Amino acid sequence: MALTPDYDSDPERFRLAGRVTRKYLIGARSLHDHIASKLLDAGVSRVLDIGCGEGALSAALPALAPLGLAGVDASATLLRAHPGPRVQADAGRLPFRDEAFDAAVAVNMLYHLDDPRPALREARRVLAPGGLLLASAICRNDSPELAPVWRPEPTTFDAEEAPDLVCEVFGEVEVERWDAPLITLPDRAAVRDYLIARHVPRAEAAEAAGHVRAPLPVTKRGCLVLARR
Ligand SMILES: C[S@@+](CC[C@H](N)C(=O)[O-])C[C@H]1O[C@@H](n2cnc3c(N)ncnc32)[C@H](O)[C@@H]1O
Repeated sequence: MALTPDYDSDPERFRLAGRVTRKYLIGARSLHDHIASKLLDAGVSRVLDIGCGEGALSAALPALAPLGLAGVDASATLLRAHPGPRVQADAGRLPFRDEAFDAAVAVNMLYHLDDPRPALREARRVLAPGGLLLASAICRNDSPELAPVWRPEPTTFDAEEAPDLVCEVFGEVEVERWDAPLITLPDRAAVRDYLIARHVPRAEAAEAAGHVRAPLPVTKRGCLVLARR
């Protein structure tokens, strides 16, 4: 099932998720930093950030990066905090002309769509020939150390199926996977916040955190799918 967006009704949950990752990510660079460096290495100049949120990808780019980065997102609330340029629109109907971008990025957003393929087709449409798509996805067995108290709900764009879905639209893909204890939650408050960030209701998250021994290293599993138009 698609993950129901809550960005306009509960933007603080999304902001908490960002804070938890930034605070407890140990010895690894963030996914946004990784994608930013891939964009710079690829030498692209016009980038579309689909489901851009408040602009974490823009923030990861050096101030003088020679990139024209535009954001598109469905949430008016999150877009207000985006540095721009940005536009409110649905990923399934991008308000851009064909071949307008050299790269399109979708960080943890395609799992919100009942069927991610129309949005992938739109991303392909707005890419110039040879243009690069980067789409991230989370594994169904992410954070296995928390399995006794919580499991992620399966979504429509889990890392298990994401490469095949992108392949259906783009024809050929490259996949970078991660599977490592990238986060350490130092105490039960951090465990609670990590669960709230993952859509566990606040009272349930607090109760579940009480059953967890901290500090808790958490294994992050997911992938980045890369494809060329
Ligand atoms: C988990 S957040 C990721 C935000 C951003 N990519 C980041 O990494 O910080 C998912 C984003 O997708 C956006 N979104 C969800 N459904 C969408 C849709 N149909 N079209 C455009 N954006 C959508 C949400 O508003 C939210 O900003």
